[in-house]
Amino acid sequence: MATEGVDKDKRRFLVAGTSVIGAVGAGFVAVPFIESWMPSERAKTAGAPVQVDITKLQEGQKVTVEWRGKPVWIVKRSKRMLDDLPTLDDRLRDPKSENEQQPEYCRNELRSRKPEISVLVGICTHLGCSPTFRPEVAPADLGPEWKGGYFCPCHGSKFDLAGRVFQGVPAPLNLVVPPHYYVSDRSILVGEDGGAA
Ligand code: FES
Repeated sequence: MATEGVDKDKRRFLVAGTSVIGAVGAGFVAVPFIESWMPSERAKTAGAPVQVDITKLQEGQKVTVEWRGKPVWIVKRSKRMLDDLPTLDDRLRDPKSENEQQPEYCRNELRSRKPEISVLVGICTHLGCSPTFRPEVAPADLGPEWKGGYFCPCHGSKFDLAGRVFQGVPAPLNLVVPPHYYVSDRSILVGEDGGAA
């Protein structure tokens, strides 16, 4: 009888011990799953908005920042550049930005929140190369009609200084305007639209 009691106690201990090991085991298994549900610090940083100081940007200059692993261009356009944009409309695929390539607040002739500053994702809408900034007028390789814009060296797509694609090139769509807003006159936050629609 005494032996039976010991055995029962042993059994109870073994059961309890197994449960503890099971719980610990489950704990070890569960932690990586919980972590995998949370975005890593690196992922959070990669998706975070990027603040850009534009005080030193001169007319005709471009600055490139990285947002979500993509190049984003910020260009300060001169009055001459802005005046030329409407004259290009009949040579463009989507001059009025009817395709969803920009936030609503940039669906205008200049595709920008402020006339002089253009913000664009620097990725060609054909196969994803990064076009070259070509702000000069009528360079020999782009012809006498060129008023400044972006040229994609991969297959020859051309975009104007508002990122609008020309007709007769492989790229089907205008360059993307990312969400952005002016934190102040001195800086832009790329990646958020500040609640503006
Ligand atoms: S990727 Fe730009 S033209 Fe093909």
